[in-house]
Amino acid sequence: MSKLKRSSVRVLLAMVALTGSIIITGDTVGQEKTFPVLGPLPPVPIPRDNPQTPAKVELGKLLFFDPRTSGDASTSCASCHDPKQGWGDGGDLSRGYPGTQHWRNSQTVINSAYLKKLFWAGGVGSLESQAIAATTGNLAGNGSPEMIQERLRQIPEYVRRFKEVFGELPTFDKVVKAISAFERTLVSDARNVPFDRYMRGDKSALSDDAKKGLTLFQGKARCIQCHNGPLFTDEDFHDLAVPNNTAFTEDPLRQIAMRFVAKVKGVPNYMKVDRDLGLFLETKRNDDIGKFRTPPLRELQYTAPYMHNGVFFTLEEVIDFYNKGGGNDANKSPLMMPLGLTAEEKKALLVFLESLSSTEPIMVEAPVLPEYETSPGAIRSAKKGD
Ligand code: HEC
Ligand code: HEC
Repeated sequence: MSKLKRSSVRVLLAMVALTGSIIITGDTVGQEKTFPVLGPLPPVPIPRDNPQTPAKVELGKLLFFDPRTSGDASTSCASCHDPKQGWGDGGDLSRGYPGTQHWRNSQTVINSAYLKKLFWAGGVGSLESQAIAATTGNLAGNGSPEMIQERLRQIPEYVRRFKEVFGELPTFDKVVKAISAFERTLVSDARNVPFDRYMRGDKSALSDDAKKGLTLFQGKARCIQCHNGPLFTDEDFHDLAVPNNTAFTEDPLRQIAMRFVAKVKGVPNYMKVDRDLGLFLETKRNDDIGKFRTPPLRELQYTAPYMHNGVFFTLEEVIDFYNKGGGNDANKSPLMMPLGLTAEEKKALLVFLESLSSTEPIMVEAPVLPEYETSPGAIRSAKKGD
Protein backbone atom coordinates (compact mmCIF):
# COMPACT_ATOMS: atom_id res chain seq x y z
CA MET A 1 0.00 0.00 0.00
CA SER A 2 1.43 3.39 -0.93
CA LYS A 3 2.13 5.97 1.73
CA LEU A 4 -0.60 8.21 0.40
CA LYS A 5 -3.19 5.46 0.38
CA ARG A 6 -2.28 4.32 3.87
CA SER A 7 -2.68 7.82 5.22
CA SER A 8 -6.07 8.24 3.58
CA VAL A 9 -7.19 4.94 5.12
CA ARG A 10 -6.03 6.29 8.49
CA VAL A 11 -7.97 9.50 7.94
CA LEU A 12 -11.00 7.46 7.02
CA LEU A 13 -10.73 5.26 10.11
CA ALA A 14 -10.24 8.33 12.26
CA MET A 15 -13.39 9.83 10.79
CA VAL A 16 -15.33 6.65 11.48
CA ALA A 17 -14.11 6.74 15.06
CA LEU A 18 -14.93 10.40 15.47
CA THR A 19 -18.25 10.66 13.73
CA GLY A 20 -19.52 7.09 13.84
CA SER A 21 -20.18 7.49 10.13
CA ILE A 22 -19.37 5.59 6.99
CA ILE A 23 -18.13 7.19 3.84
CA ILE A 24 -19.40 6.10 0.47
CA THR A 25 -17.33 6.98 -2.55
CA GLY A 26 -17.23 5.91 -6.15
CA ASP A 27 -19.45 6.20 -9.18
CA THR A 28 -22.44 4.35 -7.74
CA VAL A 29 -23.31 7.16 -5.38
CA GLY A 30 -21.51 9.97 -7.14
CA GLN A 31 -19.77 12.49 -4.96
CA GLU A 32 -17.97 11.52 -1.79
CA LYS A 33 -20.41 11.88 1.06
CA THR A 34 -20.69 10.87 4.70
CA PHE A 35 -23.78 9.09 6.00
CA PRO A 36 -24.66 8.09 9.56
CA VAL A 37 -24.13 4.33 9.92
CA LEU A 38 -26.93 1.77 9.72
CA GLY A 39 -27.28 -0.38 12.83
CA PRO A 40 -29.38 -1.25 15.88
CA LEU A 41 -31.32 1.57 17.57
CA PRO A 42 -29.79 3.24 20.64
CA PRO A 43 -31.83 3.46 23.88
CA VAL A 44 -34.98 5.57 23.52
CA PRO A 45 -34.37 9.25 24.32
CA ILE A 46 -36.43 10.32 27.35
CA PRO A 47 -37.16 14.04 27.86
CA ARG A 48 -36.11 15.38 31.22
CA ASP A 49 -39.56 16.76 32.02
CA ASN A 50 -41.32 13.46 31.37
CA PRO A 51 -39.40 10.58 32.99
CA GLN A 52 -40.63 7.02 32.36
CA THR A 53 -42.21 5.03 35.19
CA PRO A 54 -44.07 1.73 34.83
CA ALA A 55 -47.26 3.24 36.35
CA LYS A 56 -47.13 6.17 33.89
CA VAL A 57 -46.68 3.82 30.95
CA GLU A 58 -49.69 1.75 32.11
CA LEU A 59 -51.79 4.91 32.43
CA GLY A 60 -50.65 6.06 28.99
CA LYS A 61 -51.64 2.72 27.54
CA LEU A 62 -55.19 3.05 28.90
CA LEU A 63 -55.44 6.58 27.50
CA PHE A 64 -54.06 5.52 24.10
CA PHE A 65 -56.92 3.04 23.78
CA ASP A 66 -59.59 5.27 25.38
CA PRO A 67 -61.96 7.04 22.93
CA ARG A 68 -62.99 9.49 25.68
CA THR A 69 -59.90 11.53 24.74
CA SER A 70 -61.77 12.56 21.54
CA GLY A 71 -64.59 15.07 20.93
CA ASP A 72 -67.53 12.67 20.78
CA ALA A 73 -65.81 9.90 22.75
CA SER A 74 -65.70 7.68 19.63
CA THR A 75 -62.11 7.81 18.42
CA SER A 76 -59.03 6.74 20.35
CA CYS A 77 -55.42 6.90 19.19
CA ALA A 78 -55.74 3.14 18.59
CA SER A 79 -58.61 3.74 16.12
CA CYS A 80 -55.99 4.97 13.65
CA HIS A 81 -52.93 3.33 15.24
CA ASP A 82 -54.17 -0.22 15.66
CA PRO A 83 -51.60 -2.77 16.91
CA LYS A 84 -53.12 -5.32 14.50
CA GLN A 85 -52.47 -2.96 11.57
CA GLY A 86 -48.81 -2.32 12.37
CA TRP A 87 -49.95 0.56 14.61
CA GLY A 88 -51.37 2.44 11.59
CA ASP A 89 -54.95 2.05 10.34
CA GLY A 90 -54.24 -0.30 7.46
CA GLY A 91 -55.87 1.93 4.83
CA ASP A 92 -54.08 3.77 2.04
CA LEU A 93 -55.48 7.01 3.43
CA SER A 94 -56.43 7.20 7.09
CA ARG A 95 -59.95 7.32 8.36
CA GLY A 96 -60.77 10.67 9.95
CA TYR A 97 -62.71 11.93 12.94
CA PRO A 98 -66.40 11.02 12.34
CA GLY A 99 -67.76 13.21 9.53
CA THR A 100 -64.30 13.69 8.02
CA GLN A 101 -61.89 11.56 6.02
CA HIS A 102 -58.19 12.11 6.51
CA TRP A 103 -56.07 13.08 3.51
CA ARG A 104 -52.86 11.27 4.47
CA ASN A 105 -51.77 7.76 5.35
CA SER A 106 -51.78 6.98 9.08
CA GLN A 107 -48.20 6.44 10.16
CA THR A 108 -47.07 3.70 12.49
CA VAL A 109 -46.25 4.89 16.02
CA ILE A 110 -43.60 2.17 16.38
CA ASN A 111 -40.21 3.89 16.84
CA SER A 112 -41.71 7.38 16.53
CA ALA A 113 -40.12 8.00 19.96
CA TYR A 114 -36.84 8.48 18.09
CA LEU A 115 -38.06 11.08 15.61
CA LYS A 116 -37.29 14.76 15.94
CA LYS A 117 -39.73 15.68 13.19
CA LEU A 118 -43.11 14.04 13.34
CA PHE A 119 -45.82 13.75 10.67
CA TRP A 120 -45.31 13.27 6.95
CA ALA A 121 -44.24 16.89 6.60
CA GLY A 122 -42.41 17.05 9.93
CA GLY A 123 -44.84 19.60 11.40
CA VAL A 124 -44.21 18.90 15.13
CA GLY A 125 -41.08 18.24 17.16
CA SER A 126 -41.98 15.89 20.04
CA LEU A 127 -44.38 13.13 20.98
CA GLU A 128 -45.91 15.48 23.55
CA SER A 129 -46.75 18.17 20.97
CA GLN A 130 -47.87 15.46 18.57
CA ALA A 131 -50.32 14.09 21.16
CA ILE A 132 -51.81 17.58 21.63
CA ALA A 133 -52.28 17.84 17.85
CA ALA A 134 -53.81 14.34 17.73
CA THR A 135 -56.33 14.77 20.57
CA THR A 136 -57.48 18.26 19.55
CA GLY A 137 -56.96 18.30 15.73
CA ASN A 138 -60.27 18.40 13.88
CA LEU A 139 -59.38 15.50 11.57
CA ALA A 140 -58.15 13.19 14.38
CA GLY A 141 -59.45 13.46 17.96
CA ASN A 142 -61.32 16.78 17.64
CA GLY A 143 -61.43 16.97 21.44
CA SER A 144 -61.36 19.94 23.79
CA PRO A 145 -58.72 19.73 26.55
CA GLU A 146 -61.25 20.92 29.17
CA MET A 147 -63.83 18.29 28.21
CA ILE A 148 -61.23 15.50 28.18
CA GLN A 149 -60.04 16.56 31.64
CA GLU A 150 -63.58 16.65 33.10
CA ARG A 151 -64.43 13.26 31.64
CA LEU A 152 -61.35 11.66 33.20
CA ARG A 153 -62.09 13.26 36.59
CA GLN A 154 -65.43 11.46 36.51
CA ILE A 155 -63.73 8.05 36.30
CA PRO A 156 -62.46 6.89 39.73
CA GLU A 157 -59.84 4.57 38.27
CA TYR A 158 -58.25 7.46 36.34
CA VAL A 159 -58.43 9.77 39.35
CA ARG A 160 -56.61 7.12 41.36
CA ARG A 161 -53.98 6.51 38.70
CA PHE A 162 -53.27 10.22 37.99
CA LYS A 163 -52.85 10.76 41.74
CA GLU A 164 -50.41 7.85 41.91
CA VAL A 165 -48.38 8.90 38.86
CA PHE A 166 -48.53 12.71 38.95
CA GLY A 167 -49.84 13.46 42.45
CA GLU A 168 -52.80 15.39 41.06
CA LEU A 169 -56.24 15.08 39.47
CA PRO A 170 -56.32 14.35 35.73
CA THR A 171 -55.22 17.33 33.59
CA PHE A 172 -54.83 17.54 29.83
CA ASP A 173 -51.10 18.25 30.13
CA LYS A 174 -50.58 15.00 32.06
CA VAL A 175 -52.77 13.04 29.60
CA VAL A 176 -50.35 14.04 26.87
CA LYS A 177 -47.33 13.11 29.00
CA ALA A 178 -48.71 9.68 29.90
CA ILE A 179 -49.60 8.84 26.29
CA SER A 180 -46.10 9.86 25.17
CA ALA A 181 -44.51 7.70 27.89
CA PHE A 182 -46.50 4.71 26.58
CA GLU A 183 -45.39 5.44 23.00
CA ARG A 184 -41.75 5.45 24.16
CA THR A 185 -42.14 1.74 24.92
CA LEU A 186 -43.26 0.92 21.37
CA VAL A 187 -39.86 0.34 19.82
CA SER A 188 -38.15 -2.40 17.81
CA ASP A 189 -36.17 -4.84 19.95
CA ALA A 190 -32.82 -5.55 18.26
CA ARG A 191 -32.97 -9.19 19.42
CA ASN A 192 -36.00 -9.75 17.16
CA VAL A 193 -34.78 -7.91 14.05
CA PRO A 194 -32.62 -10.05 11.69
CA PHE A 195 -30.67 -7.02 10.40
CA ASP A 196 -29.86 -5.87 13.96
CA ARG A 197 -28.78 -9.36 14.97
CA TYR A 198 -26.49 -9.42 11.93
CA MET A 199 -24.98 -6.05 12.81
CA ARG A 200 -24.38 -7.31 16.34
CA GLY A 201 -22.28 -10.13 14.99
CA ASP A 202 -24.67 -13.00 14.19
CA LYS A 203 -23.55 -13.49 10.58
CA SER A 204 -26.20 -16.15 9.99
CA ALA A 205 -29.04 -13.71 10.71
CA LEU A 206 -29.09 -12.48 7.09
CA SER A 207 -29.40 -14.65 3.98
CA ASP A 208 -26.95 -14.13 1.11
CA ASP A 209 -29.70 -12.32 -0.77
CA ALA A 210 -30.29 -9.96 2.16
CA LYS A 211 -26.55 -9.24 2.35
CA LYS A 212 -26.55 -8.44 -1.39
CA GLY A 213 -29.53 -6.19 -0.73
CA LEU A 214 -27.61 -4.36 2.02
CA THR A 215 -24.75 -3.71 -0.43
CA LEU A 216 -27.20 -2.46 -3.07
CA PHE A 217 -28.98 -0.29 -0.50
CA GLN A 218 -25.70 1.48 0.23
CA GLY A 219 -24.46 1.48 -3.35
CA LYS A 220 -26.13 1.05 -6.71
CA ALA A 221 -29.70 1.56 -5.39
CA ARG A 222 -28.71 4.84 -3.67
CA CYS A 223 -31.21 4.41 -0.80
CA ILE A 224 -28.57 5.32 1.81
CA GLN A 225 -28.54 8.90 0.58
CA CYS A 226 -31.82 9.56 2.39
CA HIS A 227 -32.46 6.43 4.49
CA ASN A 228 -29.49 6.33 6.87
CA GLY A 229 -28.64 5.97 10.56
CA PRO A 230 -30.22 3.43 12.93
CA LEU A 231 -33.72 4.62 12.01
CA PHE A 232 -33.04 4.60 8.25
CA THR A 233 -33.99 8.25 7.85
CA ASP A 234 -32.07 11.50 7.41
CA GLU A 235 -35.17 13.27 8.82
CA ASP A 236 -34.83 15.64 5.90
CA PHE A 237 -37.42 16.48 3.25
CA HIS A 238 -37.44 15.35 -0.38
CA ASP A 239 -39.83 15.35 -3.30
CA LEU A 240 -39.94 11.94 -5.00
CA ALA A 241 -42.97 12.90 -7.14
CA VAL A 242 -45.04 10.04 -5.75
CA PRO A 243 -48.10 9.51 -8.03
CA ASN A 244 -51.58 10.67 -7.03
CA ASN A 245 -53.86 8.25 -5.26
CA THR A 246 -57.35 8.13 -6.82
CA ALA A 247 -58.75 7.47 -3.33
CA PHE A 248 -57.80 11.10 -2.79
CA THR A 249 -58.57 12.66 -6.19
CA GLU A 250 -62.06 11.08 -6.29
CA ASP A 251 -63.21 11.70 -2.72
CA PRO A 252 -64.69 15.11 -1.87
CA LEU A 253 -64.29 14.48 1.89
CA ARG A 254 -60.53 13.92 1.50
CA GLN A 255 -60.29 17.11 -0.53
CA ILE A 256 -62.21 19.03 2.11
CA ALA A 257 -59.65 17.77 4.65
CA MET A 258 -56.78 18.94 2.45
CA ARG A 259 -58.27 22.41 1.79
CA PHE A 260 -59.14 22.77 5.46
CA VAL A 261 -55.52 22.12 6.42
CA ALA A 262 -54.26 24.48 3.68
CA LYS A 263 -56.62 27.22 4.96
CA VAL A 264 -55.65 26.70 8.61
CA LYS A 265 -51.96 26.81 7.68
CA GLY A 266 -52.50 30.13 5.91
CA VAL A 267 -51.93 29.12 2.29
CA PRO A 268 -52.99 31.96 -0.02
CA ASN A 269 -55.47 30.83 -2.72
CA TYR A 270 -56.00 27.64 -0.75
CA MET A 271 -59.13 26.86 -2.82
CA LYS A 272 -56.85 26.18 -5.78
CA VAL A 273 -54.82 23.57 -3.93
CA ASP A 274 -55.46 20.20 -5.56
CA ARG A 275 -52.76 18.00 -4.03
CA ASP A 276 -50.76 17.51 -0.88
CA LEU A 277 -48.18 20.32 -0.94
CA GLY A 278 -46.11 18.62 1.79
CA LEU A 279 -43.45 20.79 3.46
CA PHE A 280 -44.73 23.88 1.62
CA LEU A 281 -47.69 23.91 4.03
CA GLU A 282 -45.27 24.52 6.89
CA THR A 283 -42.82 26.91 5.17
CA LYS A 284 -44.78 28.49 2.24
CA ARG A 285 -41.60 28.23 0.16
CA ASN A 286 -42.16 27.14 -3.44
CA ASP A 287 -39.04 24.96 -3.30
CA ASP A 288 -40.73 22.87 -0.63
CA ILE A 289 -43.80 21.86 -2.67
CA GLY A 290 -44.17 18.08 -2.69
CA LYS A 291 -41.39 17.45 -0.16
CA PHE A 292 -42.03 14.96 2.64
CA ARG A 293 -39.96 13.80 5.59
CA THR A 294 -38.01 10.64 4.81
CA PRO A 295 -39.83 7.89 6.76
CA PRO A 296 -37.97 5.28 8.83
CA LEU A 297 -37.76 1.86 7.12
CA ARG A 298 -38.13 -0.39 10.17
CA GLU A 299 -41.17 -2.68 10.60
CA LEU A 300 -42.30 -2.14 6.97
CA GLN A 301 -43.59 -5.69 6.84
CA TYR A 302 -46.46 -4.65 9.11
CA THR A 303 -47.13 -1.09 7.89
CA ALA A 304 -48.35 -1.32 4.27
CA PRO A 305 -49.54 0.62 2.34
CA TYR A 306 -46.64 3.00 1.80
CA MET A 307 -45.92 6.71 1.17
CA HIS A 308 -47.73 9.81 2.48
CA ASN A 309 -50.76 8.93 0.38
CA GLY A 310 -50.55 5.14 0.70
CA VAL A 311 -50.39 4.80 -3.08
CA PHE A 312 -48.17 1.68 -3.05
CA PHE A 313 -49.54 -1.49 -1.50
CA THR A 314 -46.37 -3.58 -1.72
CA LEU A 315 -42.63 -3.09 -1.33
CA GLU A 316 -42.19 -4.49 -4.85
CA GLU A 317 -44.15 -1.48 -6.16
CA VAL A 318 -41.98 0.86 -4.08
CA ILE A 319 -38.78 -0.67 -5.48
CA ASP A 320 -40.11 -0.46 -9.07
CA PHE A 321 -40.92 3.19 -8.46
CA TYR A 322 -37.34 3.93 -7.35
CA ASN A 323 -35.89 1.82 -10.14
CA LYS A 324 -37.66 4.09 -12.67
CA GLY A 325 -36.13 7.13 -10.97
CA GLY A 326 -39.33 8.14 -9.15
CA GLY A 327 -42.25 10.08 -10.62
CA ASN A 328 -42.62 13.22 -12.71
CA ASP A 329 -42.62 16.59 -11.08
CA ALA A 330 -40.72 19.80 -11.76
CA ASN A 331 -39.58 19.90 -8.14
CA LYS A 332 -38.33 16.28 -7.99
CA SER A 333 -35.15 15.70 -5.97
CA PRO A 334 -31.99 15.58 -8.12
CA LEU A 335 -31.03 12.52 -6.01
CA MET A 336 -33.71 10.52 -7.82
CA MET A 337 -32.59 8.83 -11.03
CA PRO A 338 -33.17 5.53 -12.86
CA LEU A 339 -31.22 2.78 -11.08
CA GLY A 340 -31.03 0.03 -13.68
CA LEU A 341 -31.57 -2.75 -11.12
CA THR A 342 -31.99 -6.26 -12.53
CA ALA A 343 -34.86 -8.53 -11.41
CA GLU A 344 -32.39 -10.35 -9.16
CA GLU A 345 -31.14 -7.11 -7.60
CA LYS A 346 -34.69 -5.92 -6.95
CA LYS A 347 -35.40 -9.22 -5.18
CA ALA A 348 -32.24 -8.85 -3.05
CA LEU A 349 -33.22 -5.31 -2.07
CA LEU A 350 -36.69 -6.55 -1.11
CA VAL A 351 -35.27 -9.35 1.06
CA PHE A 352 -33.01 -6.82 2.75
CA LEU A 353 -35.94 -4.45 3.49
CA GLU A 354 -37.82 -7.41 4.97
CA SER A 355 -34.92 -8.08 7.33
CA LEU A 356 -35.56 -4.69 9.00
CA SER A 357 -38.83 -5.89 10.54
CA SER A 358 -39.24 -7.76 13.82
CA THR A 359 -39.88 -11.45 13.20
CA GLU A 360 -43.07 -11.15 15.29
CA PRO A 361 -45.18 -7.98 15.16
CA ILE A 362 -45.03 -5.70 18.23
CA MET A 363 -48.39 -6.34 19.91
CA VAL A 364 -50.22 -4.99 22.93
CA GLU A 365 -53.61 -6.29 24.10
CA ALA A 366 -56.30 -3.61 24.15
CA PRO A 367 -56.88 -2.94 27.90
CA VAL A 368 -60.26 -3.02 29.66
CA LEU A 369 -61.24 0.61 30.12
CA PRO A 370 -62.43 1.94 33.49
CA GLU A 371 -66.04 3.14 33.90
CA TYR A 372 -67.59 6.54 34.71
CA GLU A 373 -69.21 7.17 38.07
CA THR A 374 -71.52 10.00 39.10
CA SER A 375 -69.97 12.96 40.89
CA PRO A 376 -68.93 13.60 43.61
CA GLY A 377 -68.78 9.82 43.95
CA ALA A 378 -66.04 9.61 41.32
CA ILE A 379 -63.43 11.49 43.29
CA ARG A 380 -64.73 10.16 46.64
CA SER A 381 -64.60 6.51 45.58
CA ALA A 382 -61.11 7.01 44.17
CA LYS A 383 -60.09 8.30 47.60
CA LYS A 384 -61.30 5.09 49.23
CA GLY A 385 -58.31 3.39 47.64
CA ASP A 386 -55.88 5.98 49.13
C1 HEC B 1 -58.46 9.76 12.80
C2 HEC B 1 -57.17 9.08 12.75
C3 HEC B 1 -56.11 9.39 13.76
C4 HEC B 1 -56.24 9.48 15.15
C5 HEC B 1 -57.49 9.40 15.97
C6 HEC B 1 -54.90 9.64 15.65
N1 HEC B 1 -53.98 9.65 14.63
FE1 HEC B 1 -51.98 9.76 14.80
N2 HEC B 1 -51.81 9.98 12.80
C7 HEC B 1 -52.85 9.89 11.91
C8 HEC B 1 -52.40 10.33 10.60
C9 HEC B 1 -53.24 10.37 9.33
C10 HEC B 1 -51.04 10.69 10.75
C11 HEC B 1 -50.16 11.37 9.68
C12 HEC B 1 -50.67 12.82 9.62
C13 HEC B 1 -49.83 13.79 8.85
O1 HEC B 1 -48.71 13.51 8.49
O2 HEC B 1 -50.32 14.92 8.59
C14 HEC B 1 -50.70 10.44 12.15
C15 HEC B 1 -49.42 10.61 12.70
C16 HEC B 1 -49.09 10.27 14.01
C17 HEC B 1 -47.74 10.24 14.54
C18 HEC B 1 -46.47 10.61 13.80
C19 HEC B 1 -45.63 9.43 13.41
C20 HEC B 1 -44.47 9.81 12.52
O3 HEC B 1 -43.84 8.92 11.94
O4 HEC B 1 -44.16 11.01 12.37
C21 HEC B 1 -47.84 9.87 15.87
C22 HEC B 1 -46.71 9.70 16.87
C23 HEC B 1 -49.25 9.69 16.15
N3 HEC B 1 -49.97 9.91 15.00
C24 HEC B 1 -49.77 9.40 17.41
C25 HEC B 1 -51.13 9.52 17.72
C26 HEC B 1 -51.66 9.57 19.08
C27 HEC B 1 -50.84 9.49 20.34
C28 HEC B 1 -53.01 9.69 18.96
C29 HEC B 1 -54.04 9.82 20.07
C30 HEC B 1 -53.87 10.92 20.98
C31 HEC B 1 -53.33 9.71 17.52
N4 HEC B 1 -52.15 9.64 16.81
C32 HEC B 1 -54.60 9.79 17.00
C33 HEC B 1 -54.14 9.49 12.18
C34 HEC B 1 -54.69 9.51 13.46
C1 HEC C 1 -34.05 11.43 -2.26
C2 HEC C 1 -34.22 10.76 -0.97
C3 HEC C 1 -34.63 9.30 -1.01
C4 HEC C 1 -34.00 8.24 -1.63
C5 HEC C 1 -32.76 8.27 -2.49
C6 HEC C 1 -34.77 7.07 -1.29
N1 HEC C 1 -35.84 7.41 -0.49
FE1 HEC C 1 -37.26 6.16 0.17
N2 HEC C 1 -38.37 7.75 0.82
C7 HEC C 1 -37.94 9.06 0.80
C8 HEC C 1 -39.06 9.93 1.11
C9 HEC C 1 -39.03 11.45 1.22
C10 HEC C 1 -40.18 9.09 1.28
C11 HEC C 1 -41.64 9.56 1.52
C12 HEC C 1 -42.15 10.11 0.18
C13 HEC C 1 -43.61 10.46 0.13
O1 HEC C 1 -44.44 9.92 0.87
O2 HEC C 1 -43.96 11.28 -0.77
C14 HEC C 1 -39.70 7.73 1.12
C15 HEC C 1 -40.47 6.58 1.29
C16 HEC C 1 -39.99 5.28 1.22
C17 HEC C 1 -40.72 4.11 1.58
C18 HEC C 1 -42.14 4.08 2.18
C19 HEC C 1 -42.07 4.00 3.69
C20 HEC C 1 -43.40 4.14 4.36
O3 HEC C 1 -43.45 3.95 5.59
O4 HEC C 1 -44.41 4.48 3.73
C21 HEC C 1 -39.91 3.04 1.34
C22 HEC C 1 -40.24 1.56 1.58
C23 HEC C 1 -38.67 3.54 0.83
N3 HEC C 1 -38.74 4.92 0.78
C24 HEC C 1 -37.58 2.76 0.46
C25 HEC C 1 -36.49 3.26 -0.27
C26 HEC C 1 -35.55 2.43 -0.96
C27 HEC C 1 -35.58 0.92 -0.98
C28 HEC C 1 -34.69 3.28 -1.60
C29 HEC C 1 -33.57 2.93 -2.53
C30 HEC C 1 -34.00 2.19 -3.72
C31 HEC C 1 -35.10 4.64 -1.27
N4 HEC C 1 -36.20 4.57 -0.47
C32 HEC C 1 -34.46 5.77 -1.72
C33 HEC C 1 -36.68 9.49 0.48
C34 HEC C 1 -35.78 8.77 -0.30
